[in-house]
Amino acid sequence: LHENGAKQREIANNYTEHPIHKLSYPSTSSPARTVPFQQPSPLLTFSYTPARELEFTDSALRYYIPPPNGADLRYGYERWVKRPEEKVRVDGLLRAVAKVRERMERSEAGSGRRWLEGVGLVSWRGVMTKILTAPYEERDGWEMNVMDIDGTLYLEEHLSDAKLRDKEDMAPHHRLQSYYGYSFEAWSTSSRPVRERLAGHPEGWGGDVDTNVQWCCVVKTKLGDTRLVIGGEVDCARERFTGRTDDLVELKTSMVIRGAQDEARFEKKLLKFYFQSFLLGVPQIIVGFRTPAGQLSTLQSFKTMQIPRLVRGKRSAWDPMVCFDWAQNFVAFLKSVANNPAANASKARIWRVIFKPKDGISVSLLNDAGVREVEAGEERVGFLPRWYFDEMSG
Ligand code: A3P
Ligand code: MG
Ligand code: MG
Repeated sequence: LHENGAKQREIANNYTEHPIHKLSYPSTSSPARTVPFQQPSPLLTFSYTPARELEFTDSALRYYIPPPNGADLRYGYERWVKRPEEKVRVDGLLRAVAKVRERMERSEAGSGRRWLEGVGLVSWRGVMTKILTAPYEERDGWEMNVMDIDGTLYLEEHLSDAKLRDKEDMAPHHRLQSYYGYSFEAWSTSSRPVRERLAGHPEGWGGDVDTNVQWCCVVKTKLGDTRLVIGGEVDCARERFTGRTDDLVELKTSMVIRGAQDEARFEKKLLKFYFQSFLLGVPQIIVGFRTPAGQLSTLQSFKTMQIPRLVRGKRSAWDPMVCFDWAQNFVAFLKSVANNPAANASKARIWRVIFKPKDGISVSLLNDAGVREVEAGEERVGFLPRWYFDEMSG
């Protein structure tokens, strides 16, 4: 760890205190250690309703049904119920964690607390994907907030207000392209395991898109020695869902491949597809290739575990072991920085992690103004909802 340095001080905004801890960028050329990653196993599932209420049911679970040939991905665009862009809080995942803890507590007093003590890190899948793919990220930086409660790290993405506004003011063609992805899901799924004909819609349409509705899976897994609890959205299941990950399917769209350059671009995208699915134990990814105008062209199914082999030796090659190795270093680094036994338990300590492509990671403690910005005037201790903080420390 290098500390201080005037240049590093510039990186942090007004909200951080010194010192700044640095982790340098990994090399993608040197052979990585083999870091064990345990096959994720589900803890529970939950759904967000159209009113964006969380319920511990599978009401939002959808089933895969092959989409019609040449489906029009523009269909239903004007009826899209779009969830507003907002800071993604970890609240929903924490409700799931609290539920698991409570379930264990019922079977044996004290077992829930012990279970959580053994968990090293809790975060949404999207945050973990960003961490794991950072060694190959050359364009988009990111920031996150980290808290350590009794040896468990909690992570959330930090979006500045400016970045949030950018997301909300999405250019019309980006908005439409984003819709194509959701429309592909609607053409490829049904709320029942068999194809249904919905009145007033073309054959094969699974229902208008409402991005408030999501089905989420919370899993436990292990990276090196660290137990992780990760939650994320899962697009659908094949025929049935029996509480295991075997039947889960991730859906993706991508532009049709017309040449070597497109192919290389797609192989780079596979890195994100791979980790996104891998982290929740989703074994199959179905990609719908589309034309620029949004017509579905061909389908291709990928077995998640075989994706690294597909790109090996290619121009756009990436190696998942580089990512696991880096992620393990990153988590160890976070633990060493954030885990401060002298911390005042009644005061939220939030660490701001800043990732800059081709440079690395810097971590620094937020000052009072920074903490207030994260708490956003809500009932929170740092970014954790107060009820969770009280329940865990009670
Ligand atoms: P595609 O990935 O097929 O383009 P997911 O694939 O994670 O289930 O997400 C479903 C769709 O949400 C994506 O479909 C994409 O259209 C949209 N989406 C996801 N992340 C996005 C982002 N950062 N910006 C814009 N749209 C996004
Ligand atoms: Mg999805
Ligand atoms: Mg998807």
